Amino acid sequence: MKKFLIVFATALALASCGAPPTQVGIVLPTKDEERWIQDQTRFQDALKTAGVSAEVLFSEKDPAKEKANVETLITKGIKVLVLCPVDSAAAAASADAAAKAGVKVVAYDRLITGTSNVNFYVTFDSFSVGAAWGNFLVSKAEGKGNNLYLYAGAASDNNAFIFFAGAWSVLQPKIADGTFVIVNSDAAIALKGKAELTRDEEASIIGQVTTNWNPNDAKSKAESHLTKATAKQKGIAFVLSPNDQTARAIADVFAKDKDVKKAYTTGQDADKASIQYIIDGKQSMTVLKDTRVLVADAITTAITFAKGGTPAQTKTYNNGVIDVPAKPSEVVSVTQDNVKAAIVDSGYYPASDFTGLK
Ligand code: BGC
Repeated sequence: MKKFLIVFATALALASCGAPPTQVGIVLPTKDEERWIQDQTRFQDALKTAGVSAEVLFSEKDPAKEKANVETLITKGIKVLVLCPVDSAAAAASADAAAKAGVKVVAYDRLITGTSNVNFYVTFDSFSVGAAWGNFLVSKAEGKGNNLYLYAGAASDNNAFIFFAGAWSVLQPKIADGTFVIVNSDAAIALKGKAELTRDEEASIIGQVTTNWNPNDAKSKAESHLTKATAKQKGIAFVLSPNDQTARAIADVFAKDKDVKKAYTTGQDADKASIQYIIDGKQSMTVLKDTRVLVADAITTAITFAKGGTPAQTKTYNNGVIDVPAKPSEVVSVTQDNVKAAIVDSGYYPASDFTGLK
């Protein structure tokens, strides 16, 4: 890793005669979520070690602020833009502005859609994230007629569609054969016979069950679903919850309902708060997406672009205009059974961050 970073620094220095003050611009969507603070910290550590001049800006969940951030960074003379968009489609304008200024555009974690000006997509295998949720819920279901509650991410985030497609690929056969009965989405019930959904079909479901990646929205949606549900539709609940922050909000709502005897909840990001929830039995699982790996991938990609090369790809993602080259990295399912090994023994977080870890 260190060797990479030194090469990166050198490559960028060589590529930019008269070294501009900021060589890499990194734009992340929000400081309101532990997930993106993690990415910021990992970037700062890695770039400092390399001595690379980089600036990280946050967009406060506002596409206009994001565009202004990108323009600021372009003015500062960046060579590579690493952009995690608030809104995948709206970010096309930023990508176009960067390309016009000769800046390479790397979509980070979330794809930028609707433009040919995306040079690479650094990402996790988001389809596997959704499949991991599905596999977990299926592993806990017994017999037929299990109550399934679906929740999704923000419809403006292309990832929400990929996560949902991954989950649907595992859950749909189990909905079709009666193992699960969907409680909270007419649109999903109407599509239960379809193994693969079109984007519009997915949008019809996500439109009903979106959390907007917002814990308050997740909370109020879960409350209204439980208010409408019968006691029989509660009992043991299987809840597809889309990330850790919203999972905790949803899990808290289900935990408060006296007719819910047990709720299985999913998540992603390995937020510290959710790792504690998993240890305490309040959230059932998360998916660890190792941000150290994503940051290293982003840096490797930038090194390659700075040298005028082409980063290695293993896959492409269609963004509506082009097939964007990408190299998705693996994710790990975390439950109470492997939380110590996956989170603490792996060095992701220190044991001292948690209580009751065995
Ligand atoms: C990311 C998740 C994150 C979510 C909300 C998604 O695009 O992949 O890790 O939890 O956005 O910010």
